[in-house]
Amino acid sequence: MNPMKVGLLGLGVVGGGTWNVLSRNAEEIARRAGRRIDITRIAVRDVAKARARLGDAVALSDQATDVVRDPEVDIVVELIGGIEPARTLVLEAISNGKHIVTANKALLAKHGNEIFAAASAQGVMVAFEAAVAGGIPIIKAIREGLTANRIQWVAGIINGTTNYILSEMRSRGMSFGDALAEAQRLGYAEADPTFDVEGVDAAHKLTLLASMAFGVPVQFSKAHIEGISSLASEDIALAERLGYRIKLLGITKQRPDGIELRVHPALVPNDRLLANVEGAMNAVMVSGDAVGPTLYYGQGAGEEPTASAVVADLVDVTRLHTADPGNRVPHLGFQPDAMSDMPILPIEQVITSYYLRLSVDDQPGVLADLARLLADLRISIGSMIQEPSGDAAADIIFITHEAREGDVDQAIARIESLAFVRSKVTRLRIENLA
Ligand code: HSE
Repeated sequence: MNPMKVGLLGLGVVGGGTWNVLSRNAEEIARRAGRRIDITRIAVRDVAKARARLGDAVALSDQATDVVRDPEVDIVVELIGGIEPARTLVLEAISNGKHIVTANKALLAKHGNEIFAAASAQGVMVAFEAAVAGGIPIIKAIREGLTANRIQWVAGIINGTTNYILSEMRSRGMSFGDALAEAQRLGYAEADPTFDVEGVDAAHKLTLLASMAFGVPVQFSKAHIEGISSLASEDIALAERLGYRIKLLGITKQRPDGIELRVHPALVPNDRLLANVEGAMNAVMVSGDAVGPTLYYGQGAGEEPTASAVVADLVDVTRLHTADPGNRVPHLGFQPDAMSDMPILPIEQVITSYYLRLSVDDQPGVLADLARLLADLRISIGSMIQEPSGDAAADIIFITHEAREGDVDQAIARIESLAFVRSKVTRLRIENLA
């Protein structure tokens, strides 16, 4: 059978890894796919550099349109990243009848609905395993392996940079800045590291996971996003004393009234597997009504782990491209005409437990007033610690039972207006992942 012909947009870290894995494992891959998969054309910025690396085996161009318009190319692999020109190129490739493989989570989180609709209309596939958690086959797991289940929730460490930073801050007492510089040196961070540290990269990935878990359109703009840049090392240490580790989690939950979609640092009990995912590793928990909780772990970034996902998509597309489009796995795992309009809930409606830390005057009645204030807002205290902090002050930490975020917002506003309260209230959410 003729080889499947692939055009690559970009020969950076993931593009280079894809070339290497496809070349090294060509025979094994052909045995699995039923035919060879060959990269026949690549668009790169620096053609001379790419030529020196790859030799004459492949057509090179500095024009991406040469790839998306090449009539010989069956599959376009988009590894440019970002929104434009990636969006325009992907849409043009689709309208030229090419299948797409992409690692571009930002593009799909923002324009996935448009891109999937265009692909369905053209009868082509858009495969994006590499867009979420790198080498972990989490998309395959949710869309196919767990397809029998009503998914209840997904919670994951889906940004390696922030997990690396948090791990180094906790275990080696490194500062945020030093740990970030080290993560960048190791190649984990996005080109713009604010996407990593502010939770945006994780929210792109979570948006896609939520759509596949619950069959709702992609709705990045409704995700609640908090990063780790303002996290105090004091809270990392205190959490540890209380039996928790702080992780940047992406969490999406289906409730009767809607879907929670949120990325933020969270205290996770340290006996949970997720709490022990350290360094740049990623892990995703998915809980289904039939299967119960499941956990997927692996490298979420890097040259060959991400290439592993890209090449798996190339094999999938190669196997399925002659199938009737109506019988392929739908892009988001649910048939496009069976998507749900279940709303994404605003953060004020989220229900979880909280860690609240504040500094107060150490005097009679303070605790009683705080407890009353919380009780008036239906917030139940699970445990608390109080420690003198000098200068007739004390630090107080409350761990609450489950409460509504909107009630906690009100409690914080009222607490901060009290005369005996000396600090802002630090609020972190707790996820028990039970
Ligand atoms: N910058 C991402 C991370 C890698 O740190 O996980 C690719 O998504």
